[in-house]
Amino acid sequence: MTAPAAALLSVSGLVKRFPGVLALQGVDFDVRAGEVHCLLGQNGAGKSTLIKVLSGAHRPDEGEIRWRGEVVSFGNPTAAMRSGVAAIYQELDLVAGLSVADNVFLGHELSTAGFSRRAEARRRTRALLDRLGHPDISPDRDVGRLSVAHQQVVSMARALSLDGQLLIMDEPSAVLDPDEVRVLFGVIRELTAQGVAVVYISHRLAEIREIGDRVTVLKDGRTVATGLPAREVKTSELIALMTGRVLDNVFPDRKPVDPAAPEVLVVRGLADGDRFRGVDLTVRAGEVVGLAGLVGSGRSEILETIYGARKAAEGTVAVDGRPLRRGSVGAAVRAGMGLCPEERKSQGLLLDQAVYRNITVSSLSSFARFGFLDDRAERARSARLTESLDVRPAGVERVVRGLSGGNQQKVVLARWLLRECRVLLLDEPTRGVDVGARSEIYELVRALADSGVAVVVVSSDVEEVLGLADRVLVVREGRVVHDGPADEIDESRVLDLVMEGHAA
Ligand SMILES: Nc1ncnc2c1ncn2[C@@H]1O[C@H](COP(=O)(O)OP(=O)(O)OP(=O)(O)O)[C@@H](O)[C@H]1O
Ligand SMILES: [Mg+2]
Repeated sequence: MTAPAAALLSVSGLVKRFPGVLALQGVDFDVRAGEVHCLLGQNGAGKSTLIKVLSGAHRPDEGEIRWRGEVVSFGNPTAAMRSGVAAIYQELDLVAGLSVADNVFLGHELSTAGFSRRAEARRRTRALLDRLGHPDISPDRDVGRLSVAHQQVVSMARALSLDGQLLIMDEPSAVLDPDEVRVLFGVIRELTAQGVAVVYISHRLAEIREIGDRVTVLKDGRTVATGLPAREVKTSELIALMTGRVLDNVFPDRKPVDPAAPEVLVVRGLADGDRFRGVDLTVRAGEVVGLAGLVGSGRSEILETIYGARKAAEGTVAVDGRPLRRGSVGAAVRAGMGLCPEERKSQGLLLDQAVYRNITVSSLSSFARFGFLDDRAERARSARLTESLDVRPAGVERVVRGLSGGNQQKVVLARWLLRECRVLLLDEPTRGVDVGARSEIYELVRALADSGVAVVVVSSDVEEVLGLADRVLVVREGRVVHDGPADEIDESRVLDLVMEGHAA
Protein backbone atom coordinates (compact mmCIF):
# COMPACT_ATOMS: atom_id res chain seq x y z
CA MET A 1 0.00 0.00 0.00
CA THR A 2 1.22 3.44 -0.83
CA ALA A 3 0.46 6.21 1.59
CA PRO A 4 -2.16 8.62 0.30
CA ALA A 5 -0.65 11.59 -1.47
CA ALA A 6 -0.48 14.75 0.59
CA ALA A 7 -3.27 17.22 0.00
CA LEU A 8 -2.53 19.82 -2.64
CA LEU A 9 -5.54 21.80 -1.57
CA SER A 10 -7.44 21.54 1.66
CA VAL A 11 -10.47 23.43 2.71
CA SER A 12 -12.06 23.63 6.11
CA GLY A 13 -15.08 25.35 7.58
CA LEU A 14 -15.71 27.42 4.49
CA VAL A 15 -18.63 29.84 4.76
CA LYS A 16 -19.94 32.20 2.08
CA ARG A 17 -22.92 34.49 2.54
CA PHE A 18 -24.88 36.39 -0.05
CA PRO A 19 -27.59 38.85 0.94
CA GLY A 20 -30.33 36.65 2.34
CA VAL A 21 -28.63 33.37 1.38
CA LEU A 22 -26.07 31.25 3.14
CA ALA A 23 -24.52 29.68 0.04
CA LEU A 24 -21.78 27.78 1.89
CA GLN A 25 -22.13 26.95 5.53
CA GLY A 26 -19.31 24.63 6.42
CA VAL A 27 -17.45 22.99 3.57
CA ASP A 28 -14.50 20.69 4.21
CA PHE A 29 -12.60 18.62 1.70
CA ASP A 30 -9.17 18.08 0.29
CA VAL A 31 -7.75 17.44 -3.14
CA ARG A 32 -4.64 15.35 -3.79
CA ALA A 33 -2.15 15.75 -6.58
CA GLY A 34 -3.02 13.55 -9.55
CA GLU A 35 -6.61 12.82 -8.61
CA VAL A 36 -9.94 13.70 -10.15
CA HIS A 37 -12.07 14.87 -7.29
CA CYS A 38 -15.76 15.10 -8.14
CA LEU A 39 -18.18 17.50 -6.51
CA LEU A 40 -21.78 16.40 -6.44
CA GLY A 41 -24.86 18.14 -5.16
CA GLN A 42 -28.29 19.32 -6.15
CA ASN A 43 -28.92 22.59 -7.94
CA GLY A 44 -28.14 25.34 -5.49
CA ALA A 45 -26.09 23.10 -3.18
CA GLY A 46 -23.15 25.50 -3.47
CA LYS A 47 -20.80 23.82 -5.97
CA SER A 48 -20.24 26.83 -8.20
CA THR A 49 -19.91 29.13 -5.21
CA LEU A 50 -17.29 26.82 -3.77
CA ILE A 51 -15.20 26.83 -6.91
CA LYS A 52 -15.49 30.59 -7.18
CA VAL A 53 -14.16 30.88 -3.67
CA LEU A 54 -11.34 28.43 -4.43
CA SER A 55 -10.33 30.27 -7.59
CA GLY A 56 -10.37 33.74 -6.08
CA ALA A 57 -13.56 34.99 -7.73
CA HIS A 58 -15.35 35.24 -4.36
CA ARG A 59 -13.93 35.92 -0.93
CA PRO A 60 -14.98 33.48 1.79
CA ASP A 61 -16.62 34.91 4.93
CA GLU A 62 -15.15 32.26 7.15
CA GLY A 63 -12.92 29.21 6.89
CA GLU A 64 -9.51 28.33 5.66
CA ILE A 65 -8.02 27.36 2.32
CA ARG A 66 -4.62 25.72 2.31
CA TRP A 67 -2.73 25.51 -0.96
CA ARG A 68 0.33 23.27 -0.85
CA GLY A 69 0.27 23.45 2.91
CA GLU A 70 0.08 27.24 3.23
CA VAL A 71 -3.00 29.20 4.20
CA VAL A 72 -3.88 31.37 1.20
CA SER A 73 -6.36 33.96 0.19
CA PHE A 74 -6.46 34.52 -3.54
CA GLY A 75 -7.73 38.05 -3.99
CA ASN A 76 -8.85 37.43 -7.57
CA PRO A 77 -8.74 34.78 -10.30
CA THR A 78 -5.51 36.16 -11.76
CA ALA A 79 -3.75 35.69 -8.42
CA ALA A 80 -5.10 32.14 -8.26
CA MET A 81 -3.90 31.47 -11.80
CA ARG A 82 -0.41 32.68 -10.92
CA SER A 83 -0.33 30.23 -8.05
CA GLY A 84 -1.38 27.39 -10.35
CA VAL A 85 -5.15 27.20 -9.86
CA ALA A 86 -7.28 27.53 -12.98
CA ALA A 87 -11.04 27.32 -13.22
CA ILE A 88 -13.57 26.87 -15.98
CA TYR A 89 -16.78 28.47 -14.80
CA GLN A 90 -20.28 27.28 -15.46
CA GLU A 91 -21.28 30.59 -17.00
CA LEU A 92 -18.40 31.03 -19.39
CA ASP A 93 -16.46 34.23 -18.86
CA LEU A 94 -15.04 34.84 -22.29
CA VAL A 95 -14.88 38.28 -23.83
CA ALA A 96 -16.97 38.57 -26.97
CA GLY A 97 -15.34 40.80 -29.58
CA LEU A 98 -11.90 39.40 -28.81
CA SER A 99 -10.37 36.56 -30.77
CA VAL A 100 -10.07 33.01 -29.50
CA ALA A 101 -6.30 33.41 -29.04
CA ASP A 102 -6.71 36.72 -27.17
CA ASN A 103 -9.18 35.07 -24.83
CA VAL A 104 -6.92 32.12 -24.20
CA PHE A 105 -4.08 34.38 -23.10
CA LEU A 106 -6.18 37.04 -21.41
CA GLY A 107 -4.82 37.92 -17.98
CA HIS A 108 -1.57 36.05 -18.52
CA GLU A 109 -0.20 37.51 -21.71
CA LEU A 110 3.00 36.04 -23.04
CA SER A 111 6.12 37.96 -22.18
CA THR A 112 7.55 38.39 -25.67
CA ALA A 113 6.66 41.72 -27.25
CA GLY A 114 4.43 42.85 -30.09
CA PHE A 115 4.06 40.92 -33.29
CA SER A 116 5.92 37.83 -32.22
CA ARG A 117 3.78 37.63 -29.09
CA ARG A 118 0.63 37.52 -31.16
CA ALA A 119 2.08 34.87 -33.42
CA GLU A 120 3.17 32.85 -30.41
CA ALA A 121 -0.28 33.17 -28.81
CA ARG A 122 -1.90 31.95 -32.02
CA ARG A 123 0.50 29.07 -32.34
CA ARG A 124 -0.02 27.92 -28.77
CA THR A 125 -3.76 28.35 -29.02
CA ARG A 126 -3.74 26.24 -32.17
CA ALA A 127 -1.85 23.50 -30.33
CA LEU A 128 -4.23 23.57 -27.37
CA LEU A 129 -7.32 23.43 -29.57
CA ASP A 130 -5.84 20.51 -31.49
CA ARG A 131 -5.17 18.75 -28.23
CA LEU A 132 -8.82 19.26 -27.29
CA GLY A 133 -9.89 17.68 -30.57
CA HIS A 134 -10.87 20.94 -32.25
CA PRO A 135 -8.69 21.75 -35.24
CA ASP A 136 -11.90 23.31 -36.64
CA ILE A 137 -11.85 26.33 -34.30
CA SER A 138 -9.77 29.20 -35.64
CA PRO A 139 -7.61 31.14 -33.14
CA ASP A 140 -8.55 34.32 -35.01
CA ARG A 141 -12.30 33.90 -34.73
CA ASP A 142 -14.31 36.25 -32.51
CA VAL A 143 -15.36 34.06 -29.54
CA GLY A 144 -18.71 35.81 -29.47
CA ARG A 145 -19.51 34.13 -32.77
CA LEU A 146 -18.78 30.60 -31.62
CA SER A 147 -21.40 28.11 -30.44
CA VAL A 148 -21.66 27.53 -26.70
CA ALA A 149 -19.96 24.16 -27.10
CA HIS A 150 -17.01 25.75 -28.87
CA GLN A 151 -16.85 28.51 -26.27
CA GLN A 152 -16.56 25.80 -23.66
CA VAL A 153 -13.63 24.33 -25.57
CA VAL A 154 -11.95 27.75 -25.66
CA SER A 155 -12.38 28.07 -21.89
CA MET A 156 -10.74 24.72 -21.48
CA ALA A 157 -7.89 25.79 -23.73
CA ARG A 158 -7.42 28.85 -21.57
CA ALA A 159 -7.35 26.79 -18.39
CA LEU A 160 -4.84 24.40 -19.95
CA SER A 161 -2.64 27.24 -21.19
CA LEU A 162 -1.78 28.03 -17.60
CA ASP A 163 0.01 24.76 -16.91
CA GLY A 164 -1.53 24.88 -13.46
CA GLN A 165 -1.47 22.24 -10.78
CA LEU A 166 -5.17 22.34 -10.05
CA LEU A 167 -7.80 22.55 -12.72
CA ILE A 168 -11.37 23.15 -11.63
CA MET A 169 -14.18 22.41 -14.07
CA ASP A 170 -17.77 23.39 -13.42
CA GLU A 171 -20.05 21.19 -15.52
CA PRO A 172 -17.83 21.17 -18.59
CA SER A 173 -19.72 18.30 -20.16
CA ALA A 174 -23.10 20.02 -20.05
CA VAL A 175 -22.58 21.51 -23.50
CA LEU A 176 -20.35 18.84 -25.02
CA ASP A 177 -21.39 15.86 -27.09
CA PRO A 178 -20.22 12.31 -26.32
CA ASP A 179 -17.26 12.56 -28.69
CA GLU A 180 -16.07 15.77 -27.08
CA VAL A 181 -16.52 14.38 -23.60
CA ARG A 182 -14.31 11.47 -24.57
CA VAL A 183 -11.59 13.84 -25.75
CA LEU A 184 -11.94 15.88 -22.56
CA PHE A 185 -11.53 12.77 -20.45
CA GLY A 186 -8.44 11.85 -22.44
CA VAL A 187 -6.97 15.26 -21.63
CA ILE A 188 -7.92 14.92 -17.96
CA ARG A 189 -6.18 11.55 -17.79
CA GLU A 190 -3.04 12.99 -19.36
CA LEU A 191 -3.01 15.82 -16.85
CA THR A 192 -3.58 13.67 -13.78
CA ALA A 193 -0.85 11.28 -14.95
CA GLN A 194 1.47 14.30 -14.72
CA GLY A 195 0.30 14.98 -11.19
CA VAL A 196 -2.20 17.73 -11.93
CA ALA A 197 -5.30 17.61 -9.73
CA VAL A 198 -8.74 18.10 -11.22
CA VAL A 199 -11.93 19.11 -9.45
CA TYR A 200 -14.79 17.99 -11.65
CA ILE A 201 -18.44 18.95 -11.34
CA SER A 202 -21.18 17.15 -13.21
CA HIS A 203 -24.74 16.03 -12.63
CA ARG A 204 -24.11 12.90 -14.67
CA LEU A 205 -23.24 10.06 -12.36
CA ALA A 206 -21.97 7.86 -15.18
CA GLU A 207 -19.26 10.42 -15.90
CA ILE A 208 -18.23 10.58 -12.32
CA ARG A 209 -17.72 6.84 -12.26
CA GLU A 210 -15.74 6.94 -15.44
CA ILE A 211 -13.37 9.78 -14.67
CA GLY A 212 -13.54 10.31 -10.92
CA ASP A 213 -11.28 9.03 -8.16
CA ARG A 214 -13.03 10.44 -5.10
CA VAL A 215 -16.32 12.19 -4.54
CA THR A 216 -17.44 14.93 -2.20
CA VAL A 217 -21.15 15.55 -1.83
CA LEU A 218 -22.55 18.96 -0.90
CA LYS A 219 -26.03 19.55 0.38
CA ASP A 220 -27.39 22.98 1.30
CA GLY A 221 -23.90 24.44 1.37
CA ARG A 222 -22.42 21.78 3.62
CA THR A 223 -20.19 18.77 3.05
CA VAL A 224 -22.32 15.72 3.76
CA ALA A 225 -19.76 13.14 2.63
CA THR A 226 -16.20 13.44 1.42
CA GLY A 227 -13.55 11.19 -0.08
CA LEU A 228 -15.98 8.50 -1.28
CA PRO A 229 -14.45 6.13 -3.84
CA ALA A 230 -16.00 7.23 -7.15
CA ARG A 231 -16.07 3.82 -8.78
CA GLU A 232 -17.41 1.83 -5.86
CA VAL A 233 -19.97 4.05 -4.19
CA LYS A 234 -23.52 3.09 -5.02
CA THR A 235 -25.69 5.38 -7.13
CA SER A 236 -28.55 5.05 -4.67
CA GLU A 237 -26.22 6.16 -1.89
CA LEU A 238 -25.08 9.23 -3.83
CA ILE A 239 -28.64 10.22 -4.67
CA ALA A 240 -29.70 9.75 -1.06
CA LEU A 241 -26.79 11.92 0.12
CA MET A 242 -27.58 14.64 -2.38
CA THR A 243 -31.32 14.74 -2.01
CA GLY A 244 -31.94 13.30 1.42
CA ARG A 245 -34.44 10.91 -0.13
CA VAL A 246 -34.56 7.67 -2.04
CA LEU A 247 -35.41 7.93 -5.70
CA ASP A 248 -35.95 4.66 -7.46
CA ASN A 249 -37.48 5.51 -10.80
CA VAL A 250 -36.37 8.68 -12.51
CA PHE A 251 -38.66 8.35 -15.52
CA PRO A 252 -42.44 8.50 -15.33
CA ASP A 253 -44.57 5.68 -16.68
CA ARG A 254 -45.55 5.93 -20.29
CA LYS A 255 -49.07 5.35 -21.50
CA PRO A 256 -49.27 3.91 -24.99
CA VAL A 257 -50.09 6.72 -27.42
CA ASP A 258 -53.55 6.35 -28.90
CA PRO A 259 -52.94 5.49 -32.57
CA ALA A 260 -56.12 7.40 -33.40
CA ALA A 261 -55.00 10.55 -31.57
CA PRO A 262 -54.94 13.55 -33.90
CA GLU A 263 -51.69 14.47 -35.56
CA VAL A 264 -50.99 17.85 -33.97
CA LEU A 265 -47.64 18.68 -35.52
CA VAL A 266 -46.86 17.55 -39.03
CA VAL A 267 -43.57 18.48 -40.67
CA ARG A 268 -42.84 17.40 -44.24
CA GLY A 269 -39.65 17.66 -46.23
CA LEU A 270 -38.28 20.48 -44.10
CA ALA A 271 -34.90 21.92 -45.14
CA ASP A 272 -33.15 25.15 -44.25
CA GLY A 273 -30.84 25.08 -47.24
CA ASP A 274 -27.87 24.76 -44.91
CA ARG A 275 -27.79 22.52 -41.85
CA PHE A 276 -30.52 19.96 -42.49
CA ARG A 277 -32.80 18.62 -45.18
CA GLY A 278 -35.66 16.22 -45.82
CA VAL A 279 -36.98 16.22 -42.27
CA ASP A 280 -40.33 14.50 -41.76
CA LEU A 281 -41.83 14.52 -38.29
CA THR A 282 -45.29 13.75 -36.99
CA VAL A 283 -46.30 14.23 -33.38
CA ARG A 284 -49.71 13.16 -32.13
CA ALA A 285 -51.60 14.64 -29.24
CA GLY A 286 -50.20 13.05 -26.10
CA GLU A 287 -46.97 11.98 -27.71
CA VAL A 288 -43.42 12.86 -26.73
CA VAL A 289 -40.95 12.58 -29.59
CA GLY A 290 -37.25 12.67 -28.77
CA LEU A 291 -34.53 13.85 -31.15
CA ALA A 292 -31.18 12.23 -30.43
CA GLY A 293 -27.95 13.26 -32.11
CA LEU A 294 -24.64 14.98 -31.61
CA VAL A 295 -24.27 18.63 -30.78
CA GLY A 296 -24.13 20.26 -34.21
CA SER A 297 -26.11 17.52 -35.96
CA GLY A 298 -28.85 20.03 -36.73
CA ARG A 299 -31.39 19.20 -34.04
CA SER A 300 -31.63 22.71 -32.60
CA GLU A 301 -31.84 24.19 -36.08
CA ILE A 302 -34.71 21.84 -36.88
CA LEU A 303 -36.63 23.03 -33.81
CA GLU A 304 -35.91 26.67 -34.58
CA THR A 305 -37.11 26.24 -38.15
CA ILE A 306 -40.30 24.48 -37.08
CA TYR A 307 -40.87 27.43 -34.76
CA GLY A 308 -40.27 29.92 -37.55
CA ALA A 309 -37.22 31.50 -35.96
CA ARG A 310 -35.21 30.32 -38.95
CA LYS A 311 -36.58 30.43 -42.42
CA ALA A 312 -37.27 27.14 -44.15
CA ALA A 313 -35.96 26.76 -47.68
CA GLU A 314 -38.24 23.83 -48.43
CA GLY A 315 -41.01 21.87 -46.80
CA THR A 316 -44.07 22.51 -44.67
CA VAL A 317 -45.01 22.74 -41.01
CA ALA A 318 -48.65 22.32 -39.99
CA VAL A 319 -50.35 22.49 -36.60
CA ASP A 320 -53.76 20.85 -36.26
CA GLY A 321 -53.89 20.50 -40.02
CA ARG A 322 -53.26 24.18 -40.76
CA PRO A 323 -50.00 25.01 -42.54
CA LEU A 324 -47.93 27.75 -40.93
CA ARG A 325 -46.43 30.69 -42.74
CA ARG A 326 -42.69 30.13 -43.23
CA GLY A 327 -40.28 32.02 -41.04
CA SER A 328 -42.95 33.55 -38.79
CA VAL A 329 -42.63 33.04 -35.05
CA GLY A 330 -45.85 35.00 -34.64
CA ALA A 331 -47.75 32.47 -36.74
CA ALA A 332 -46.25 29.58 -34.78
CA VAL A 333 -47.11 31.14 -31.44
CA ARG A 334 -50.67 31.89 -32.55
CA ALA A 335 -51.01 28.28 -33.62
CA GLY A 336 -50.07 27.28 -30.07
CA MET A 337 -46.40 26.49 -30.42
CA GLY A 338 -43.75 27.12 -27.77
CA LEU A 339 -39.97 26.70 -27.94
CA CYS A 340 -37.77 26.46 -24.89
CA PRO A 341 -34.36 27.25 -26.42
CA GLU A 342 -31.02 25.68 -25.73
CA GLU A 343 -29.05 28.83 -24.99
CA ARG A 344 -31.16 30.09 -22.16
CA LYS A 345 -28.72 32.71 -20.96
CA SER A 346 -28.79 34.67 -24.15
CA GLN A 347 -32.19 33.73 -25.54
CA GLY A 348 -34.34 33.33 -22.55
CA LEU A 349 -33.74 34.91 -19.20
CA LEU A 350 -34.33 38.42 -17.92
CA LEU A 351 -31.51 38.14 -15.40
CA ASP A 352 -32.38 41.24 -13.40
CA GLN A 353 -36.07 40.53 -13.11
CA ALA A 354 -37.94 38.53 -10.51
CA VAL A 355 -38.50 34.83 -10.94
CA TYR A 356 -42.27 35.20 -11.38
CA ARG A 357 -41.86 37.78 -14.14
CA ASN A 358 -39.49 35.50 -15.99
CA ILE A 359 -42.05 32.75 -15.80
CA THR A 360 -45.10 34.74 -16.83
CA VAL A 361 -43.47 36.91 -19.48
CA SER A 362 -44.67 34.76 -22.37
CA SER A 363 -48.17 34.42 -20.99
CA LEU A 364 -48.76 38.00 -19.89
CA SER A 365 -51.93 38.35 -21.93
CA SER A 366 -53.58 35.69 -19.79
CA PHE A 367 -52.82 37.74 -16.68
CA ALA A 368 -54.21 40.99 -18.04
CA ARG A 369 -57.51 42.19 -16.60
CA PHE A 370 -59.04 45.47 -17.65
CA GLY A 371 -55.69 46.43 -19.11
CA PHE A 372 -53.79 45.83 -15.87
CA LEU A 373 -51.63 42.87 -15.02
CA ASP A 374 -53.02 40.71 -12.29
CA ASP A 375 -49.85 40.58 -10.28
CA ARG A 376 -51.23 38.33 -7.60
CA ALA A 377 -52.37 35.69 -10.05
CA GLU A 378 -48.97 35.86 -11.75
CA ARG A 379 -47.20 35.23 -8.51
CA ALA A 380 -49.53 32.47 -7.43
CA ARG A 381 -49.25 30.50 -10.68
CA SER A 382 -45.48 30.94 -10.68
CA ALA A 383 -45.22 29.88 -7.08
CA ARG A 384 -47.04 26.63 -7.82
CA LEU A 385 -44.74 25.82 -10.72
CA THR A 386 -41.51 26.72 -8.96
CA GLU A 387 -42.59 24.59 -6.07
CA SER A 388 -43.18 21.55 -8.23
CA LEU A 389 -39.86 22.11 -10.00
CA ASP A 390 -38.18 22.65 -6.65
CA VAL A 391 -36.58 25.97 -7.59
CA ARG A 392 -34.24 26.97 -4.80
CA PRO A 393 -34.13 29.10 -2.82
CA ALA A 394 -37.92 29.36 -2.89
CA GLY A 395 -39.51 32.74 -3.41
CA VAL A 396 -40.80 34.09 -6.70
CA GLU A 397 -39.67 37.62 -5.85
CA ARG A 398 -36.00 36.74 -6.09
CA VAL A 399 -33.95 38.14 -8.91
CA VAL A 400 -32.96 35.40 -11.34
CA ARG A 401 -29.30 36.44 -11.48
CA GLY A 402 -28.75 35.19 -7.93
CA LEU A 403 -29.99 31.66 -8.68
CA SER A 404 -27.64 28.77 -9.38
CA GLY A 405 -27.25 27.59 -12.98
CA GLY A 406 -29.63 24.67 -12.69
CA ASN A 407 -32.27 26.70 -10.92
CA GLN A 408 -32.14 29.30 -13.69
CA GLN A 409 -32.84 26.51 -16.16
CA LYS A 410 -35.88 25.48 -14.20
CA VAL A 411 -37.23 29.03 -14.34
CA VAL A 412 -37.11 29.17 -18.14
CA LEU A 413 -38.66 25.77 -18.36
CA ALA A 414 -41.43 26.86 -16.01
CA ARG A 415 -42.22 29.67 -18.43
CA TRP A 416 -43.00 27.20 -21.18
CA LEU A 417 -44.82 24.82 -18.95
CA LEU A 418 -47.10 27.66 -17.87
CA ARG A 419 -48.09 28.64 -21.38
CA GLU A 420 -50.81 26.43 -22.57
CA CYS A 421 -49.22 25.19 -25.77
CA ARG A 422 -50.53 22.71 -28.35
CA VAL A 423 -46.99 21.95 -29.40
CA LEU A 424 -44.06 22.29 -27.05
CA LEU A 425 -40.50 22.14 -28.41
CA LEU A 426 -37.90 21.62 -25.70
CA ASP A 427 -34.20 21.94 -26.46
CA GLU A 428 -32.05 20.27 -23.80
CA PRO A 429 -34.62 20.77 -21.03
CA THR A 430 -32.53 19.25 -18.26
CA ARG A 431 -29.07 20.54 -19.06
CA GLY A 432 -27.42 21.34 -15.76
CA VAL A 433 -30.41 20.14 -13.75
CA ASP A 434 -29.79 17.71 -10.89
CA VAL A 435 -31.25 14.19 -10.74
CA GLY A 436 -34.00 15.03 -8.31
CA ALA A 437 -35.32 18.03 -10.21
CA ARG A 438 -34.83 16.20 -13.48
CA SER A 439 -37.39 13.62 -12.50
CA GLU A 440 -39.82 16.45 -11.60
CA ILE A 441 -39.30 17.89 -15.07
CA TYR A 442 -39.98 14.52 -16.67
CA GLU A 443 -43.18 14.22 -14.65
CA LEU A 444 -44.34 17.65 -15.80
CA VAL A 445 -43.51 16.96 -19.44
CA ARG A 446 -45.35 13.66 -19.25
CA ALA A 447 -48.33 15.32 -17.57
CA LEU A 448 -48.48 17.92 -20.35
CA ALA A 449 -48.41 15.18 -22.97
CA ASP A 450 -51.13 13.30 -21.13
CA SER A 451 -53.25 16.43 -21.31
CA GLY A 452 -52.97 16.32 -25.10
CA VAL A 453 -49.94 18.43 -25.89
CA ALA A 454 -47.56 17.29 -28.65
CA VAL A 455 -44.02 17.45 -27.28
CA VAL A 456 -40.67 17.35 -29.07
CA VAL A 457 -37.54 17.02 -26.94
CA VAL A 458 -33.98 17.45 -28.12
CA SER A 459 -31.44 15.99 -25.76
CA SER A 460 -27.83 14.91 -25.89
CA ASP A 461 -28.50 12.52 -23.04
CA VAL A 462 -29.50 9.30 -24.78
CA GLU A 463 -30.84 7.78 -21.59
CA GLU A 464 -33.14 10.77 -21.23
CA VAL A 465 -34.44 10.50 -24.79
CA LEU A 466 -35.14 6.81 -24.34
CA GLY A 467 -36.66 7.21 -20.90
CA LEU A 468 -38.89 10.16 -21.66
CA ALA A 469 -39.94 9.86 -25.28
CA ASP A 470 -42.53 7.59 -26.87
CA ARG A 471 -40.79 7.79 -30.20
CA VAL A 472 -37.16 8.48 -31.04
CA LEU A 473 -35.70 10.12 -34.10
CA VAL A 474 -31.96 10.03 -34.59
CA VAL A 475 -30.49 12.98 -36.45
CA ARG A 476 -27.09 12.76 -38.05
CA GLU A 477 -25.53 15.52 -40.09
CA GLY A 478 -28.83 17.16 -40.79
CA ARG A 479 -30.81 14.07 -41.75
CA VAL A 480 -33.20 11.85 -39.84
CA VAL A 481 -31.54 8.43 -39.97
CA HIS A 482 -33.95 6.59 -37.71
CA ASP A 483 -37.57 6.99 -36.59
CA GLY A 484 -39.21 4.41 -34.34
CA PRO A 485 -40.77 3.61 -30.95
CA ALA A 486 -38.52 4.26 -27.94
CA ASP A 487 -39.06 0.80 -26.50
CA GLU A 488 -37.75 -0.88 -29.64
CA ILE A 489 -34.28 0.63 -29.53
CA ASP A 490 -31.57 0.66 -26.87
CA GLU A 491 -28.86 3.06 -25.85
CA SER A 492 -25.99 1.39 -27.66
CA ARG A 493 -27.94 1.23 -30.92
CA VAL A 494 -28.80 4.93 -30.65
CA LEU A 495 -25.15 5.74 -29.99
CA ASP A 496 -24.12 3.68 -33.01
CA LEU A 497 -26.57 5.57 -35.19
CA VAL A 498 -25.54 8.90 -33.72
CA MET A 499 -21.85 8.30 -34.19
CA GLU A 500 -21.76 6.40 -37.47
CA GLY A 501 -18.92 7.65 -39.59
CA HIS A 502 -17.98 9.90 -36.69
CA ALA A 503 -16.31 7.56 -34.25
CA ALA A 504 -12.61 7.96 -33.69
N1 LIG B 1 -24.18 36.08 -6.74
C1 LIG B 1 -25.11 35.54 -5.95
N2 LIG B 1 -26.00 36.29 -5.26
C2 LIG B 1 -26.93 35.74 -4.46
N3 LIG B 1 -27.06 34.43 -4.25
C3 LIG B 1 -26.23 33.61 -4.89
C4 LIG B 1 -25.21 34.12 -5.78
N4 LIG B 1 -24.52 33.08 -6.29
C5 LIG B 1 -25.08 31.97 -5.75
N5 LIG B 1 -26.10 32.28 -4.91
C6 LIG B 1 -26.91 31.34 -4.13
O1 LIG B 1 -26.04 30.44 -3.50
C7 LIG B 1 -26.57 29.13 -3.50
C8 LIG B 1 -25.58 28.17 -4.13
O2 LIG B 1 -25.52 28.44 -5.52
P1 LIG B 1 -24.47 27.71 -6.49
O3 LIG B 1 -24.50 28.44 -7.77
O4 LIG B 1 -23.17 27.59 -5.81
O5 LIG B 1 -25.13 26.27 -6.64
P2 LIG B 1 -24.65 25.01 -7.51
O6 LIG B 1 -24.43 23.89 -6.58
O7 LIG B 1 -23.54 25.39 -8.40
O8 LIG B 1 -25.96 24.68 -8.36
P3 LIG B 1 -26.14 24.19 -9.91
O9 LIG B 1 -26.05 22.72 -9.92
O10 LIG B 1 -27.54 24.61 -10.21
O11 LIG B 1 -25.14 24.88 -10.75
C9 LIG B 1 -27.89 29.21 -4.20
O12 LIG B 1 -28.89 29.30 -3.24
C10 LIG B 1 -27.79 30.47 -5.01
O13 LIG B 1 -29.06 31.00 -5.22
MG1 LIG C 1 -23.38 25.55 -10.43
